[in-house]
Formats: sequence, C-alpha cells, structure tokens
Amino acid sequence: MPFSFDFHSTTKIILGPNKVGVIGQEIKKDHITKVLLTAGEGSIRRNGVYDRVVASLQAAGVEHVDFFGIPPNPTLAKVNEAVQICKTQGIQAVLAVGGGSTNDASKAIAAGAVMEGNVWDCYLGKAAAPENSLPLYTVLTMSGTASEYNNGSVVTNTETKEKRPAFFAHPPRVSIIDPVVQASLPWRQTVAGSIDTISHLLEQYIGAKMEEDVTLNLNVALQRSVITACTALQGHESEYTPRANLCWAASLGLNGIAGCGLPQDWNVHWLEHVVSGFSPRVTHGEGLAILTAPYMRWVHKNIPHARPSLERWAHDLYNCGVEEAINRLSAQFVAWGAPASLRQVGIAEADVPELARLFAGYGCESSVKNLTQEDALERETRCVWP
Ligand code: NZQ
Ligand code: ZN
Repeated sequence: MPFSFDFHSTTKIILGPNKVGVIGQEIKKDHITKVLLTAGEGSIRRNGVYDRVVASLQAAGVEHVDFFGIPPNPTLAKVNEAVQICKTQGIQAVLAVGGGSTNDASKAIAAGAVMEGNVWDCYLGKAAAPENSLPLYTVLTMSGTASEYNNGSVVTNTETKEKRPAFFAHPPRVSIIDPVVQASLPWRQTVAGSIDTISHLLEQYIGAKMEEDVTLNLNVALQRSVITACTALQGHESEYTPRANLCWAASLGLNGIAGCGLPQDWNVHWLEHVVSGFSPRVTHGEGLAILTAPYMRWVHKNIPHARPSLERWAHDLYNCGVEEAINRLSAQFVAWGAPASLRQVGIAEADVPELARLFAGYGCESSVKNLTQEDALERETRCVWP
C-alpha cells in the first residue's frame, strides 16, 4: 500500500498560561448547563485548579456535580460509579480535570452514560462505541498521554487484572492546556509523561516503510523537542517555555498526526499495560521507561524488516548507529531519574509467567511482530521483561 492515510481531528485546543478560567465559557457556548466534574485523588484541590474551574463554571452559569477519586490507572469500578450518577442526575456533559487517568475514565463515563449495557464491553470488543456519548471537555493537569487530544481510553478491571484500551466515537470537544498548572507535578510524573510521549512517537515510527518522509521528520522532531524540554525542566520545574513545549509535543505525539501513513508497532504499550494492570502502583511512563530499550534492542537483533526504520531514527535523532542511539536514549531516561528494571518497581522474576499469561489475553496487532505468549516466555524475548 503506498503512503496514504485518513486524519481527522476535531478537538479545540486552548494552550497558554491562565487559560483554566475560560472553561466555563467554552461549555456554555454549547448550551450545556450541568456537568459531572471528574477528578483524581486530590491534586487539583492542593494546587488551586479546582477552585479556578469552579469559579469559571459559576461565572458561566454551569452547574456541576463533583466526582473525585479516579485513581492513576483508572478502574472500571470507579467508571461504573460515575455512570450511575450521570444516569440519575441529569448530567449533560463530562468535564475531566486531571491527567490521562481522569481523561480516560471520563471518556468511558461519557459513553457508559448513554449505554444500556456495561461500557466494559467496548474494551472487550463486544460492543460498539456509542455515537451519542455525552460531550467531554478537559482541563489537563499532566501531559504525556495525549488523552486530551484523542479518542483513546485505557481502563483496568481490577477483578481480572485486565488493563484494556478502547476507542470511542469522539475525542474531547475542548481541551484546556495550561502549562503553569503542571509546575506542581512531582518530577517523576513529568519524567513519566515525557517518556510516554517518546514511546508514543517510537511506537508509531518503528517498522516504518520509509515512504512517509514528512511524518517521520515530524515524528523525530517531536522526540527531539521532548528531550530538550524535559532536560531543561530538570531542576527548573516552574520554567514556562520548556513546560509549554513539552505539553504541545505530548499532545501532538498521539493525536494521530505523528503517525499519518505509518504502519505502527505498539508492542511496548501492550507489554506495559500488562505490567501496570498486574501492579497498578507502576506509573505508565515508568513502565515504558523500563521496557523501551530492551524491546528496541530485541527488534534490532531479530526483526530485519524493522531495521531500516531504526537506522533512520538513530541517524536523525543522535547521528549515530542503532545500538549507540538506544544506549543514549536509555541513559537519558536514567539521567531524568526513571527506573530501568522491573525489580526497581517491585516486580520479581517469579512474576514473569503471570505477566506472560496476562499478555496472552491481548490480541496484539503490530506491524513489527504480533508477540505471542510463547514469545513472551522464550528466553530471548524475555529480555523485554528484565
Ligand atoms: O490523582 P491526582 O491527585 O490528580 O494525582 C495525579 C496522579 O497521582 C498526579 N497529578 C496529575 N496532575 C498533577 C498531579 N499532581 C500534581 N500536580 C498536577 N498538576 O499525577 C499522577 C498521575 O496522573 P495520571 O493521570 O495517572 O497520569 P497520566 O497522565 O500519565 O495517565 C496515565 C494513564 O493514561 C493511560 C495509561 O495507561 C494510564 O492508565 N494512557 C492513555 C492513553 C490515551 N488515552 O491515549 C495512551 C497512553 O499510552 C496511556 O496508555
Ligand atoms: Zn502511553
């Protein structure tokens, strides 16, 4: 298939300092008068974002019902609790105020609110995503996932330890990205978001057929921007300009534009979702930090058709060979303070068979190789679970 793609993006992005206060007006423009305000475990109360959102809603005459407590690696149980509130309290839209976890859960809530069956069926591929989900608005407080700019959502069923993605009919209508708000992030979360973005870009890049010149150049430029911005923020976390650039690179990293026409891999994400589904205390970006370099080395060694893309990547990002480029990237992650082994995040060698069993439950489509449970258990492939 020659270079070709569909690209469709409908989210209005508003990025800048002190933009949180416009959210009420944006919602009012759509004639919405009552929203469910969804949030995580309290960071927005501590950094003042909640008060600013509420003031903006009140000024615009938009009523809100609060729904706090969405955990990192959001759970199906929490989604279902919020769906009931939407169904019984006349909620017209969902306003997510938080990071990727709050945004992802909110997409599920917005869909579940109009479904008769359980929204988990969308994650299992047993039900189509509803066309008429409640509208979703977001005030982003942590960049990395690009959930503010796409229709993806990842939710964990804690009963079965399954962490699964679903793709809903619509991305958020409006996303507010105020970089100033992200100065309150713990450094390890800034790092996790940065590595998540780099991983999204690599997952789209590896296995490219090399016809997609514009997309590959754009993609690697975004990787370079993330490395520059995150490095500039280390020790200077309140600096506006690198923070704003990091936010924008993250949003563009997974709104589709950095993958136009690329065949796409996603194996590292499949592997990571198994890890954080198994152990929800593992932050998504930290899991990716651990898995990325071993996986790239494995691909370079074992998958000849993916080598040209790795060679171009290494040349364009670091002007060197593949092995050296992988080593430099992984050293960069460590220099930012990211973990480099599963042991460091509390996962033991003895857990690997269970991880492989969970991995087998995913129908992993990849342009590089559809990894199987056998792959995951083979001594050679095991290097991806160091
Ligand atoms: O819960 P609160 O109290 O808000 O604290 C959060 C959480 O503890 C905190 N935080 C967020 N903004 C803050 C802040 N703390 C201080 N100041 C702020 N401004 O940071 C912690 C992590 O937040 P979370 O939302 O969990 O992080 P992230 O944005 O990395 O989201 C991770 C989730 O997104 C999924 C991941 O699998 C994971 O479940 N993904 C979603 C994708 C998508 N929709 O396209 C793609 C990604 O590949 C990813 O899989
Ligand atoms: Zn990710």
